[in-house]
Amino acid sequence: MCGIVGYLGNDEAYPILIKGLRRLEYRGYDSAGVAIIGNSGFHLHKCKGKVADLESLVASNPSPGSIGIGHTRWATHGAPNDVNAHPHTSGDGKLALIHNGIIENYATLKAELINRGHVFKSETDTEVLIHFIEDVRNTTGVDLFEATRIALSEVVGAYAIVVIDRENPNQLIAAKKSSPMVIGIGSDGDFYIASDATPIIEYTKNVVYMEDEEVARIDREDGLKIVTIQNKQKTPYIQALEMKLEAIEKGGYDSFMLKEIHEQPRSIRDSIRGRLNLNLGMVKMSGVDQHADKWMNASRIIIVACGTSWHAGLVAEYLFEEFCRIPVEVEYASEFRYRNPVILPGDIVIAISQSGETADTLAAIELAKSHGAHIFGVCNVVGSTISRATHSGAYTHAGPEIGVASTKAFTAQVTVLFLIALSVAQKKGTMSHERIHRLMAELNSIPDKVEEVLLTNAIVETIAEIHKDHRNALYLGRGYSFPVALEGALKLKEISYIHAEGYPAAEMKHGPIALIDEEMPVFVIATQGHSYEKVVSNIQEVKARKGKIIAIVNSGDKVVKELADHLIEIPKTDDSLVPILSVIPLQLLAYHVAVMRGCNVDQPRNLAKSVTVE
Ligand code: G6P
Repeated sequence: MCGIVGYLGNDEAYPILIKGLRRLEYRGYDSAGVAIIGNSGFHLHKCKGKVADLESLVASNPSPGSIGIGHTRWATHGAPNDVNAHPHTSGDGKLALIHNGIIENYATLKAELINRGHVFKSETDTEVLIHFIEDVRNTTGVDLFEATRIALSEVVGAYAIVVIDRENPNQLIAAKKSSPMVIGIGSDGDFYIASDATPIIEYTKNVVYMEDEEVARIDREDGLKIVTIQNKQKTPYIQALEMKLEAIEKGGYDSFMLKEIHEQPRSIRDSIRGRLNLNLGMVKMSGVDQHADKWMNASRIIIVACGTSWHAGLVAEYLFEEFCRIPVEVEYASEFRYRNPVILPGDIVIAISQSGETADTLAAIELAKSHGAHIFGVCNVVGSTISRATHSGAYTHAGPEIGVASTKAFTAQVTVLFLIALSVAQKKGTMSHERIHRLMAELNSIPDKVEEVLLTNAIVETIAEIHKDHRNALYLGRGYSFPVALEGALKLKEISYIHAEGYPAAEMKHGPIALIDEEMPVFVIATQGHSYEKVVSNIQEVKARKGKIIAIVNSGDKVVKELADHLIEIPKTDDSLVPILSVIPLQLLAYHVAVMRGCNVDQPRNLAKSVTVE
């Protein structure tokens, strides 16, 4: 979603802002802009489209200055156009503001401000906020830092903002609530500010993650000062950024998505590292160990998540029920938060989120917390809002995921959820030692098997070439492979804009079978295991209606080979680990189809990487 970057220091701001905006492109956006304080006021440029369009605009308007702000906007209030793009300015043109989030009471504020003579140019809530800050400053006579704090104390909603004053090239004011903001402190009086650490990483490792309801003033003379909205002074807590620059660059691949698909052997190894002790036969998940009593006595697990993380949650439902014999419910966070759900004190709520910033998942956590549930987070981004809002948790060590379509985060999530389920089963004694040991050894071999699966790339590319022009596709799986069918369909629709549906294979006859003809490619996960024969019957049903079968099978499969139009062979593993292997050809397929159709795989239209609005 929207991205923020700001700079105050000794260098030219514009190149730093543009580079920062490029780093933030992965979040998804539809317009971009910058404001730099020059010798005689703002250099303000903004336009619909990509950062490259903004660069063309600025190319003929050099914009010198050593303080500025930049923004990528993902439209919420008002269409994506030049006027609605950020930065927005105050009525007197002195202040400029960039904003992520939504001001919920903007309509009331706007009406009051119009009554007081303010005139608005855009349809955005952001413009209302900068007029409001201006109004507070003019009517009370306080400085910009204080005016921002007072204005925000009357704002309902979510925000991360940066404000600058064209008459004061020495100060940036920033604030945040329910939308992330990080301040980078350079070595020589340089300050960087951004909605995530990616624009900051190449300049400094020293960062301050702002907390909710904090307002920061960055001043050339006085450095960084932070107060709360309630006007309590805070001491900035400087942390070391753990991210590496290589992790957010393409490293020779054509796209981040392809790079991230190929990183999976490594990201799964990293997610397992230190957590499996094969010699002692022990699974060590410290977030589980710290609250072992909660897990031992849990009467139910509720999983809340969105998108791909929700699919990982569905896999976890099968894992926890099979391994730990604890009933599980998997909820879309957006539905759960508004449903008045029954949450009991013995419930454990697992929140799964790659970014750790998804607004609906965060709200679901707060709701469950208020009902006394124990909240366990499975997040990828260290220090993210969700990771801090939970009682305990386990990180997935996938590294930064930049491609909008989630790939390595999904397999890392399933890996970590598998480890959690194993560790709880071990504590509760719900699985035999032998089976736990077998599963530990099998999990340990999964990264090597993922490497083997990646070798299917050439055959998957051929299949993509054959099926790239279809308008629809169906994905089928049963048991542990049902969530993978959903995930495979999601990948295809997200980046290639082909309509795709995932279904439990047996459920097909209750509807989707009506769609099947010779034009319908049907991707079936048909690995040997619990429901293999049943899936073979489902394949027969598709063939009888002339559907085209593309089957993911275990190497050496003879039965499905007779029926399928194309086979993708993957190594054998336990049913419970199949999702980690079978999803990979489906990721590759979506990637190749999207490339062949000329789509932008890393930044698909309308989608955002980190969905910070509900
Ligand atoms: C967006 C992304 C998806 C992601 C979902 C949940 O829709 O495009 O890839 O699965 O948000 O995000 P989270 O960061 O909470 O896992």
